[in-house]
Amino acid sequence: MRDINIAWARELARKTLQDVLPRRWEHSLGVGRRAEQLAPILGKDAELLAMAAYLHDIGYAPDLVDVGFHPIDGARYLRDVHGADELLCKLVAHHTCAEIEAGDRGLLDILQGEFPKQRPDLVEAITYCDMTTSPDGVPIKAVDRLAEIRERYGPEDLVTATIAKATPCIMSAVRAIEDRMASADVRSAGTAEIVADTQPHRAIHAKPFYLITAYPAHLA
Ligand SMILES: [Fe+2]
Repeated sequence: MRDINIAWARELARKTLQDVLPRRWEHSLGVGRRAEQLAPILGKDAELLAMAAYLHDIGYAPDLVDVGFHPIDGARYLRDVHGADELLCKLVAHHTCAEIEAGDRGLLDILQGEFPKQRPDLVEAITYCDMTTSPDGVPIKAVDRLAEIRERYGPEDLVTATIAKATPCIMSAVRAIEDRMASADVRSAGTAEIVADTQPHRAIHAKPFYLITAYPAHLA
């Protein structure tokens, strides 16, 4: 039987994205690495979350486009072509508050019908990973990531309108994961300021951990 694990997910994302959408591949690599950093707070779910993170944008690959909404297209591909775990497909389908954009695109029935939302805690985790990783795969603050999306798509694009609507959902997910990491004393690139703010008794300095060596390839 085929091994379904993190290495499989990373390689599938690489094969699907690297040549046709190299920047999307770099982003996916960063999101996957971000997810692997969450292992201390995810326990037995860590591997599944990391797989979903590497694969979350696979639906952008031109060959996979079906309805034209990448969370659904990616989840369908993983389900129909690879027989992937149901929860893995649901995490891809729902990453980064996808319900909101699906509603704006008239695709909410398909999303909820084919991939009913499950494990909101893991949906928050994959959303955190996506929204704290830049398009080039580098750690970034969520507020800067949101601003970057608005700038990249421009004021007229549906994505910009949707991202404004989704901002409370996204920031709620980011804060939930940052709180869990702070409670577990997990230090991660881009989260040290939160740790410092919420746990001053630990005497963690505010800035030194930002852009730590978690992503050496991208920081070189
Ligand atoms: Fe993404």
